[in-house]
Amino acid sequence: MFIVFEGIDGTGKTTIIKKLSVELNNLGYEIFVTQEPSQTWLGQAVRRAIAEEKNGFTQALLFFADRAEHMTELRENENKIVLCDRYIYSTFAYQGAQLEAAMGLENAITWFEGIYAPTRIDPDIVFLITVDPVQGIRRIHNRDKKEKFERVEFLKRVQEIYLEIAESYNFIVIDGSRELKEVYEEVKNKIINIIQGK
Ligand code: TYD
Repeated sequence: MFIVFEGIDGTGKTTIIKKLSVELNNLGYEIFVTQEPSQTWLGQAVRRAIAEEKNGFTQALLFFADRAEHMTELRENENKIVLCDRYIYSTFAYQGAQLEAAMGLENAITWFEGIYAPTRIDPDIVFLITVDPVQGIRRIHNRDKKEKFERVEFLKRVQEIYLEIAESYNFIVIDGSRELKEVYEEVKNKIINIIQGK
């Protein structure tokens, strides 16, 4: 089962994934935790492009290159429960927000869909965790991490795009502004219900 977690920076998804992997493992499930951008040199290239503020086209193409390699790993682990921190929908939302001025959001998403198509693997579940961008940024600053994307206005738009596409891509939208424990319990219960076919 392929489960993806999406949301703007500071939603707590990485922490949630870590807890889930431990708890699902204790329940006897085989878990594979993974993320985009990857930890490989391709992922490093992506992070470098972000840091150097390369344009949205460059960034999108690098994210797709990193993802193309990631697909192999996803296929190798398809019999496990795969918990994936960010996926194609991050490109839709983040690079969509970057490119909409140049080409319009709809055209950008159509372009992304086209690049994605040949290697496409659709997730079984996509959780979109929402948070107020200011609250999200505050959480990240506590982690003492600075990235270009931490601008409130930009993240607001990113989250709007996530919500605009939520229905067409069947996201389960989770309110991440609550205590992390509460958010975690909701996500965990939903996953267990789905796994057990309830
Ligand atoms: P990540 O390292 O997952 O951020 P964090 O460690 O804060 O969770 O991702 C780095 C940034 O890359 C993040 O701001 C989101 C962005 N991103 C895109 O813009 N497009 C994409 O396709 C992906 C996967 C990530």
